[in-house]
Amino acid sequence: MFHHAAGGYAGQGTLCGSIGACSAIINLVAKDDNKTHNKMISDLINWYASFNHPTAQFDSFCKYPNQVRKVPNSPLCHVSVSGWTLEADTEIGTKERKDRCAKVAGRVAMQTVMMLNDYADGKFNPVAPAVSAQTSSCLECHGPEEDHNQQGKMNCNMCHPHAADHAE
Ligand code: HEC
Ligand code: HEC
Repeated sequence: MFHHAAGGYAGQGTLCGSIGACSAIINLVAKDDNKTHNKMISDLINWYASFNHPTAQFDSFCKYPNQVRKVPNSPLCHVSVSGWTLEADTEIGTKERKDRCAKVAGRVAMQTVMMLNDYADGKFNPVAPAVSAQTSSCLECHGPEEDHNQQGKMNCNMCHPHAADHAE
């Protein structure tokens, strides 16, 4: 069902496929009138972007232990994977890169299961802030209360590195 999600959906490098697949499962389980599913999915995405991937938790049984780790700062496959290949000095086609992404997918599934277990116990709480401090400052002017001319909660700075100049 989720084979197409690999490589950020058909190799397009958009949303990390593991987030997309796990979001579908969260939606199936936790959708309600309070939009609990969206709160959980948002938290999964924020957690993902701030996590130092890949985890070393699977090192005892993976092929390439002790891999270079990098916080992607973004839920986008392109940023996450190409940022990592740059850091690890490797390429997309290598087995090292595939091992890295397998660990990312495994860790995202693990995070999702932990979140759904908490949800089932009635004690789900987000682990990551809803938006970073900097994004929150951008949204003061570009969010729904003001201009409302941008969609999203990602780290603005990654694509608009010079925007801080006009934000004072
Ligand atoms: C004090 C209010 C304010 C804050 C804070 C602010 N902006 Fe803006 N921004 C504006 C205004 C006004 C414009 C010009 C008109 C428009 O497009 O809304 C603008 C334009 C932009 C544009 C479009 C064109 C351009 O000039 O590059 C981008 C992109 C942008 N802002 C990003 C950001 C980001 C990222 C942040 C956070 C680091 C941020 N802004 C914080 C007020 C603000
Ligand atoms: C993945 C890259 C990316 C991220 C992350 C991103 N933007 Fe943008 N943003 C763009 C691109 C590309 C455009 C179009 C720029 C153009 O055509 O000149 C744009 C356009 C804008 C505009 C102009 C819209 C308008 O109607 O004037 C604003 C304002 C803006 N972004 C604010 C933000 C803010 C605030 C954030 C963080 C919440 C953010 N962006 C995150 C890539 C990004």
